[in-house]
Amino acid sequence: ALAATQIQLDSSVQGAVINKNIYGQFAEHLGRGIYEGLWVGPDSDIANTKGFRNDVLAALKELRVPLIRWPGGCFADEYHWRDGIGPRDKRPVKVNTNWGGVEEDNAVGTHEFFDLVELLGAEAYVNGNLGTGTPQEMAEWLEYMTAEGKSTLAELRRKNGRDKPFKVHYFAVGNEAWGCGGNMTPEYYTNLYKHYTTFLKTPAHNTPKWIASGGHSEDTSWADHLTAHVKQKMDAVSFHYYTLPTGQWDVKGAALQFPESEWISTMQRTLAMDTFITNNKKVIDKHDPEKKVGFYVDEWGTWFDVEKGENPGFLYQQNSLRDAIVAALNFHIFHKHADRVHMTNIAQMVNVLQAMILTDKEKMILTPTYHAYKMYVPFQDATALPLKLSNVPDYKLGEVSIPAVSATAAKAKDGFVYLALVNANPNKAEMAEIKLDGIQINGISGQLLTAEAMDTHNTFAKPEAIKPTAFSAKAKNGKLSLELPAKSILVVKVQ
Ligand code: AHR
Repeated sequence: ALAATQIQLDSSVQGAVINKNIYGQFAEHLGRGIYEGLWVGPDSDIANTKGFRNDVLAALKELRVPLIRWPGGCFADEYHWRDGIGPRDKRPVKVNTNWGGVEEDNAVGTHEFFDLVELLGAEAYVNGNLGTGTPQEMAEWLEYMTAEGKSTLAELRRKNGRDKPFKVHYFAVGNEAWGCGGNMTPEYYTNLYKHYTTFLKTPAHNTPKWIASGGHSEDTSWADHLTAHVKQKMDAVSFHYYTLPTGQWDVKGAALQFPESEWISTMQRTLAMDTFITNNKKVIDKHDPEKKVGFYVDEWGTWFDVEKGENPGFLYQQNSLRDAIVAALNFHIFHKHADRVHMTNIAQMVNVLQAMILTDKEKMILTPTYHAYKMYVPFQDATALPLKLSNVPDYKLGEVSIPAVSATAAKAKDGFVYLALVNANPNKAEMAEIKLDGIQINGISGQLLTAEAMDTHNTFAKPEAIKPTAFSAKAKNGKLSLELPAKSILVVKVQ
């Protein structure tokens, strides 16, 4: 018999609400993410609503996308909002200097972005331009979006087709200030953050949560400096971390046909998210013991070498079972830190990096990452039930070793308890024994995602090569004994 991972509730830890925005998305003006992937324009032969593809909208609705971050990314710090309003044929054409040097015709601007979030029933996260914009430009964008009276900017918004104000749920002041957002130090950015936010004003009932652009990877100095020195108008500090199989930016590793050494290194590097969040929380706790400031992981996901034949600036990559497992492991980490982590945004929603959806002209496929997001929908706004895992087997290859099994549980809004388990070992099934004291388990039912090969993926020719299958099991004396197939994700409802 296989030695089994023992899973039980951990009553020593308080479970926080898993904010639905932990399942947030990111759509930047980058490659074919917005143009082609989401937006085809109202005159396209591809069926669309207000210019957005119906097939993509329908698929995204199934994910209950809670929130979308826009327009960047690096793009945000070169974006001038006035370029994206008014008649589309009159909008200026710019060069997208960050992403492939292609033409940006500004067809998608503020009104189109809000059409998208409203069509999906999502919240809006607008990222302002600190890098090349002025406080005045940023303040006026907010006024344009939120003003109610007869100010010139409110009237301009009405002239452009929108009477009532837009609801801006979140607003960020710059992006990656340490890099493409201006190569600043935390000290310099903190001063600028205070300077700009002084002038950002909105009606009291339409005030966004204000986000300061923070650090990345192991660097905690941004969270430290910002939370020590900004005492108002900062609801959260953001954080970025990407998972590269090799950890090197010049040769990151391929999306498909990778060796097992790059499977395990990808898992190991993605699990570092836990350490990075833990370390950032420690520094934030010093300055904000009341936990007023959120820690938003507003960019994360896998980043592979760009596919052959694609524009290197478009960051288009295939997506396999490995990506789905990366997503699931990160969900478990985010649930664990739900007291501080109230939002995350995977990069990016369509056709860019770790995407939910890939498109080719009129065709569309759902990626394994899409399926992972769909399986975890019940965790949105659920209350985490912290778990204690013991006897967890290692999955080892050469010098690298990681825990093979990971699990998370929560009480969902429908009143049911949901359990999610991952077996990161690509070669071996693992047993798990689950007993949740005080929670009656008769049986479970839900979905399993797994496949034969580590890089199993969907293609336009074979769009359903990998998708979830139904799974159920019965408990014996309130105890569940499960076999988790190699490289699998299981999400079930407890009955
Ligand atoms: O998601 C792609 C890019 O990665 C974003 O534009 C930037 O913020 C990050 O470096």
